Amino acid sequence: MYKSIAVGSSKSSKIMNLFLVAEETKKAPDHAGNDTALIGAFKDPGFKAEASELSSVTDAGIWLGVGDAKGIDEDRIRSVGSRVVKQLNRLELKGVKIDLGCLPRKTRDEEALGRAFAEGLGIGNWRMDLFNGAASRKPEARGKLTVTCDSTDFRKGMTAGLMLAEAMNLTRRMAATPPNVCTPSHVATTARMLARGVEGLSCSVITYQQARRLGMGGLENVGKGSANKPCMVILDWKPPKTQTREKLALVGKSITYDTGGYSMKSSAGMKGMKYDKNGGMAVLGAMKAISDAKLPIRVFGVLPAAENMVSSDAYRPDDIISMYNDITVEVTNTDAEGRLVLADALAYTCRKLKPTAIIDIATLTGGVVVALGHFCAGYWCENGPFGRRIEQAATDSGEKVWRMPLWEAHREFMRAEHADLLNSNPKRSAHPIQGAAFLSHFVDEDIPWGHIDIAGTSAIDSGNDVFPPGPTGWGVRLMFDLAAGYVKDD
Ligand code: BES
Ligand code: ZN
Ligand code: ZN
Repeated sequence: MYKSIAVGSSKSSKIMNLFLVAEETKKAPDHAGNDTALIGAFKDPGFKAEASELSSVTDAGIWLGVGDAKGIDEDRIRSVGSRVVKQLNRLELKGVKIDLGCLPRKTRDEEALGRAFAEGLGIGNWRMDLFNGAASRKPEARGKLTVTCDSTDFRKGMTAGLMLAEAMNLTRRMAATPPNVCTPSHVATTARMLARGVEGLSCSVITYQQARRLGMGGLENVGKGSANKPCMVILDWKPPKTQTREKLALVGKSITYDTGGYSMKSSAGMKGMKYDKNGGMAVLGAMKAISDAKLPIRVFGVLPAAENMVSSDAYRPDDIISMYNDITVEVTNTDAEGRLVLADALAYTCRKLKPTAIIDIATLTGGVVVALGHFCAGYWCENGPFGRRIEQAATDSGEKVWRMPLWEAHREFMRAEHADLLNSNPKRSAHPIQGAAFLSHFVDEDIPWGHIDIAGTSAIDSGNDVFPPGPTGWGVRLMFDLAAGYVKDD
């Protein structure tokens, strides 16, 4: 693993040329844009230019396969970046110059490809090192990798990609930090430290006592059973100049551990619930990326943080609680806790921060994992233009979403006999939609709002083309691109 990766100038010396080449070009060099650059690849007959395949090293440089020409897109290039960084490290390379001369020309947006490639490099170069102990067998991270390219667009994309990967890796590190260390107050301290280092970014924290006084019955009740008391973290990115009057709020579920409470999870279902804070940690990463890029739009990040435990102080099924906006909720299941902390955060955000649009992001339901797996996140948005912005951000970032329904009938399904709402309808059906329907009661009708359920995407059990098993930082790029979308067209 490299200690760091940076974009250098294209004039840096002592760097290895890295020619990207598609399978077809290797087979039929006549089609190559730059035949001389291909000669080296033909000296290596075993090299087929499959995605992420490296040729042997020659005096001219190395060839890196990007697979079939038709399939070259940002997803493919991201995965090539993620895989090749480990090989570059093994070869002990300190600098590489990406050569696009062998790629089918001008068919692609070079900035987008540069960004995806560098995202891959940064993602592939990460591992969890915080808990390496006396018996660790991980080789120490060393050296710096400098990447460059003659194309200004590709270089510009790489700079953005490395910055985004760094933000994702903050999210992944926090996600992987275990619940005995990452408590609600640890989340608050981390957010404060992040804000301290960035001009224009500030952080405030609503403490447990303050939340009680403010009437945040959701946050209070979910968190009160733990010795690690809950809190709500508010990050505020106020750029020196704004290019739009829009104010975006990002609200992330931050349950530092979800035992299920008295509606307790089975031991198999509980393992991995340190990842129940991943929505909030993605908001943290997105706020870092947005402020690092100095995006000229006001953005709030809101993290309701709590630990869902059992104790004589814990809330129980049948409790009726009163929320920040004075809606009363009958708790039918203490394991449907995420929507309770989010509900207070959403109501507070609407009333006090007055954003012009809100996204909430949460590991909300196991049901969304059953429905969509780890392939994409489920999203709900009944506002056409805002829904299109979410879809555009998903396309731009490569973090895929699939829209689910949220109708009046679903909202009605959450009504209770003895209180206003149920946190979960005991008639077990449409769980992911129930979560969204419940939350909708806490958002002002005139504010465009979207809900994203990342229970299936924010951490993965087995590795894929881009990520090893573990946290993925899912949502950082989508939320960054959502904010960036407002400043592109204004
Ligand atoms: N944190 C879980 C959802 C979850 C499940 C996330 C699996 C990641 C992987 C959430 O708080 C929960 O327990 N949801 C319940 C809701 C039900 C009790 C209404 C669920 O999905 O079963
Ligand atoms: Zn739960
Ligand atoms: Zn949960």
